[in-house]
Amino acid sequence: MSSLRNRDIISIGDLSKDEIQAVLDQAANFEQRLARGESHLVAQLLQDHILATVFYEPSTRTRLSFESAMNRLGGRVISVAEAKTSSSAAKGETIYDSGRMLESYADVIVQRHPATGSARALADAASVPVINAGDGTGEHPTQALLDLYTIQREGAGNGLRALDGLHVVMVGDLKNGRTVHSLSKALTNWKVNFTFVAPPQLAMPDEVVAYLRQRGATVQQATELAPALSSADIAYITRIQQERFSSVEEYMKYKGVYVITAAAVAQAKPGIAIMHPLPRVDEIDTDVDKLPNAAYFRQARNGVFVRMALLTMVLGGD
Ligand code: NCD
Repeated sequence: MSSLRNRDIISIGDLSKDEIQAVLDQAANFEQRLARGESHLVAQLLQDHILATVFYEPSTRTRLSFESAMNRLGGRVISVAEAKTSSSAAKGETIYDSGRMLESYADVIVQRHPATGSARALADAASVPVINAGDGTGEHPTQALLDLYTIQREGAGNGLRALDGLHVVMVGDLKNGRTVHSLSKALTNWKVNFTFVAPPQLAMPDEVVAYLRQRGATVQQATELAPALSSADIAYITRIQQERFSSVEEYMKYKGVYVITAAAVAQAKPGIAIMHPLPRVDEIDTDVDKLPNAAYFRQARNGVFVRMALLTMVLGGD
């Protein structure tokens, strides 16, 4: 039985390296089984289980890939897509009360919420496992898992490549982007060098950098993109997180500050993988899409396999 059985997934730091690798291996197993046409067998794994997705912030990929994963496993899904306005939170219900209620409606809860710490609060209230699908500017651990899976899959034929020795460049709004917080922490389970490219006002938070260094990673911070790309194995691009800014004027100061073009990829290290959690605004030119280096749509697809792995391991269907 998986050690993730009945566990809450709140921060990527909650998972050991072995647990993370077990999720990635299980994801590869699901990708292969589906490719072999075993969907009818896979669809028996979580019969009689119910997933609740409760999203207080917009989402396309995370919610739909969780729901797709649960459906592919034969489970059922109940969902509030606009929980801010259409759930009882609009009437003043607390996270604690929602947790006490949702635990009797579902076997696992996936929540996205604008407040950092909200996933922990729900997990403390609910007796069933809670999976954090993004808590404000805090963390997004399942995105980190699918990002790791993508890094292992890119350029590795049918297998999974080793992560040790990679140079990972993260670009954009590193202050407010929760995906880079979780992914950088996750990568400290391997020997990875980071370069963080951001305007000083949107730099990676000091506490995250301190955590990474304390876990043995080398971290460089920069404001120029081109020099970092020349030795990057992975360029992880993020959107300026408009919803975290106090005004449109403030956001407009940073919008468009970094844009990756096909010409920039041509100057970068050969074989570089361009990743992005999506949604993209303007930070990757669409002329990059046709390049073999453009990994972001494969990355989004990988979310289904990784979430299938996680749901079966948490619910005990593996
Ligand atoms: C990210 C998020 O919500 O943090 N989206 C996602 O889950 N793929 C990234 C973003 O919104 O910029």
